[in-house]
Amino acid sequence: MTNTPYALVTGASSGIGLAISRTLIANNIHVYGIGRSFDTPIVSELFTPIVCDLTKTGELTNTINKLKKDIPFSYVIHNAGVGYFGPHEEQNPAKIHEMTCVNLEVPMLLTNLLLRDIKACNGTFIFISSVTAHKSNTHGCAYGATKAGLSSFARSLFDEVRKYGVKVVIIHPDMTQSNFYRNANFTACDDLSTSLIPEDIANAVEAVIKQRDGLVINEITLVPQYHRIERKS
Ligand SMILES: NC(=O)c1ccc[n+]([C@@H]2O[C@H](COP(=O)([O-])OP(=O)(O)OC[C@H]3O[C@@H](n4cnc5c(N)ncnc54)[C@H](OP(=O)(O)O)[C@@H]3O)[C@@H](O)[C@H]2O)c1
Repeated sequence: MTNTPYALVTGASSGIGLAISRTLIANNIHVYGIGRSFDTPIVSELFTPIVCDLTKTGELTNTINKLKKDIPFSYVIHNAGVGYFGPHEEQNPAKIHEMTCVNLEVPMLLTNLLLRDIKACNGTFIFISSVTAHKSNTHGCAYGATKAGLSSFARSLFDEVRKYGVKVVIIHPDMTQSNFYRNANFTACDDLSTSLIPEDIANAVEAVIKQRDGLVINEITLVPQYHRIERKS
């Protein structure tokens, strides 16, 4: 085993998680990245793709329990997420369950499985939440609720574990150019002054991991200069 630090990144196969993984690797951190399909995986000896459907709780638990026997993770990046938007009456049980599971239950479960290991190395949890956690979200009631729950969980977790040297960081990005809005009738604008790009969030993660020991950047909110969303025709 080398001295290279290890990170677990959920949703490392696309968008923000892919950008974060690339940045961690550039900082000489070995990334174990979870996703269901790695169409264009990162080619690096510092990247190990883990194909796993996060909604399959038993499979996920077994995978993590096996991994942590060999890999001393010091960073856990809770990034995977899914969003279904529209009037709440048009949601269905499967969508509500998927959002609640991937966005909220899985981060709580993974934290539970890895917390002792992260405590042992004074490690860091980073939660990719959303600006929706801070506000009312018409046509995104359930999605916003999962993100508000995620931020609440992360805040309480920090209060619980800061005395053990564990860092907990919440990042709240605004609309970011990715495939995230594949199920919506709107998307992020292409214009860089009206939306974020995944690298913006990755840069925030890089700033977080480069802080001196003893300083925790607790919460970061990232917004574009102008507020605009693009309706799909
Ligand atoms: N884009 C935005 O405007 C925006 C704004 C604020 C916050 N966020 C948050 O940022 C995070 C990343 O979103 P993104 O914009 O990068 O979207 P994305 O490109 O759709 O990426 C989502 C990632 O989550 C993974 N994922 C989803 N369901 C999964 C499952 N059941 N099992 C395993 N992996 C799963 C996907 O992997 P597979 O497809 O391989 O399964 C993918 O890697 C999410 O938590 C999202 O809520 C996004």
